Amino acid sequence: GPADSIPRVDAYTHRKLTVTMKEIDQTVLPKGLTDTCGKGVTFGKTRVWAYETADSATNQVLGPANWPAVTLETRSKVATQMTFVNQLPSFNAASPYGPGLVQGLIAVDQTLHWADPLQKMCGMTTRDCSLSENTSNACCLPYTGPVPTTVHLHGAVIPARFDGGPDSWFTPDGKIGSSYNSLGKPGTGEAIYQYVNDQEAGTLWFHDHALGVTRTNVLAGLAGFYFIRNPALEPKKLPNGAYELEMAIQDRQFDTNSQLYFPTETTVKTHPYWSVMFEGDVAMVNGAPWPYLNVEPRRYRLRILNGSNHRSYDLTFGRAAAYQIGADEGYLGKPVKISNVHLSPGERADLIVDFSKLAGQTVTLANDEPGEMYQLPDIMQFRVNTALKSGDTSCNPAKLPGTPGYCTWPVPAARLTDGQGHVLPSVKIDKVRQFVINENFDYPNNIEEFVNNTKWDGLLSPSIAAEFPQDGVSETPRVGAVELWEIINIYSPGVAAQTHPIHTHLAQFQVLNRQAINLKGYLAAWNRAFGTGPAPLPSSCALGKYCPGYGPPLAYNTPNADGAVGGNPALGPFLLGSPIPPDVGETGWKDTATAHAKQVLRVLVRWTPTDTPVVQGKSYIGSNLFPFDPTLGDYVWHCHIIDHEDNEMMRPYRVSN
Ligand code: C2O
Ligand code: CU
Repeated sequence: GPADSIPRVDAYTHRKLTVTMKEIDQTVLPKGLTDTCGKGVTFGKTRVWAYETADSATNQVLGPANWPAVTLETRSKVATQMTFVNQLPSFNAASPYGPGLVQGLIAVDQTLHWADPLQKMCGMTTRDCSLSENTSNACCLPYTGPVPTTVHLHGAVIPARFDGGPDSWFTPDGKIGSSYNSLGKPGTGEAIYQYVNDQEAGTLWFHDHALGVTRTNVLAGLAGFYFIRNPALEPKKLPNGAYELEMAIQDRQFDTNSQLYFPTETTVKTHPYWSVMFEGDVAMVNGAPWPYLNVEPRRYRLRILNGSNHRSYDLTFGRAAAYQIGADEGYLGKPVKISNVHLSPGERADLIVDFSKLAGQTVTLANDEPGEMYQLPDIMQFRVNTALKSGDTSCNPAKLPGTPGYCTWPVPAARLTDGQGHVLPSVKIDKVRQFVINENFDYPNNIEEFVNNTKWDGLLSPSIAAEFPQDGVSETPRVGAVELWEIINIYSPGVAAQTHPIHTHLAQFQVLNRQAINLKGYLAAWNRAFGTGPAPLPSSCALGKYCPGYGPPLAYNTPNADGAVGGNPALGPFLLGSPIPPDVGETGWKDTATAHAKQVLRVLVRWTPTDTPVVQGKSYIGSNLFPFDPTLGDYVWHCHIIDHEDNEMMRPYRVSN
């Protein structure tokens, strides 16, 4: 069917918005079509979860409930007040999987560490409930009440209490997680956030982030774009209006009743309804399956988001010339011609695609990235069959730099690297941190996803726990610091190499480089290092597995021989070849980057890049809304394969002065 372009709400005019989460029936699959391969079903409406957007002062609905939401267009340094209202229904207890979401068709796995309102009310944890003496405790029974949600603005430089992290969830009947923002009205199912927008123009998006149910809440439809614009500092004459298109690419499965299908076959014993990866067999763009778009023979700006749970895409544009102008959070230094753009879950690319020489032709947005179970070689079509309405006066990235009509940038983005794999000499690195990311792959008993052999809430060995008395927080960066993070993907030896897209909340980073490692040698050193004493590790603990009682390496915050903290063995002896420079599209500010298996991903993280004087207790500059906190406090970073994030591949950090 035809592609839906997403309507936009001008959040510069409407500075106080109410965004309500609702269950709706949406026309998703094409009407009047009959599925010829199955039982000859005629597609009906699909039940989804959607954000509805209204003006908080007038209650006027500016964007009806839809998957995906309307795009919010905001202005740099002008705050937007967001009132989020959770009107989602209760878990459907009649689900074949135990209490599930959306008519009970989406299985919720209550064996994960998740935003369980029942346990929270009793002051218990998933871990308490996993103890055999608690199996019949009423607090540990499956939860069947209203769904917990929270909204995270992905890419935002934002005070911690408005970040919408995994513990900030709230339910329609007023139950709240441990970091619920008290500006909301407790007991009402509302949370009020101030989005300060104190950052460069960029392509942000908002989505659900409730602990352990993010993959299902997002799959059900809770996602939308959030643009920050900065007319004074943005490139001039980019294609705009109808020629600027945001595209959320998400893969989905459907059942024969036209409903979202969330398979439960790929399961492990300890987590019966969690799958290590959700993969769809239908390519959705903005909530439409394999759509087409009629376009004019001219340049378009495409702002593409990979909003999928697990699937990465390597997108190509057929005969259309494509140029990348921006990464996740801002513009590149100049337009770069690309033949393909790789997007892992959570990543965005800002492109100019030129259809001007292709009148009468059809361009397929294709995907070269293989899937694990289902291939999605085609994503959508651009049919260049509409007459040019008026001459294309947008800037032309194909021109020679310096010539008239070329796309120019008023202010080049601040740089930390030379884009060729090296740190610029002017940049002072305050700290080097090393992390391993690994899968505890014990199929069919269990699979879990870890950072430094540590769970989300820090199930630390006693000696490590003593080192980090505060909630298991192990990373405490300072405001203003630039840190080099080396993220070493040791995946799970013996199983398929798994990439993990790493996402930092609050902090923006630039990809420095990647480098291959001798995994076997490094793992042996790593396992030696994380034994707790002279006794050898038990054999069940070999090669990067999670070992209860061992926890992460000893002396977690101590520099190793490479000068990095993290307690990991020195990486130096195990590096192979030379560093691989970032892709051209990775040279802007980013918040999500791919860590490939058997490689170290190096990123330069900039802590708190607000450039506006921040005065606690004073009104925010450019708005007269609310006093706000600076960017201090507790945030998270995690793998943006949402299935992994929901099963422990997430860690907190605490930003302080
Ligand atoms: Cu897009 Cu922590 O999330
Ligand atoms: Cu992952």
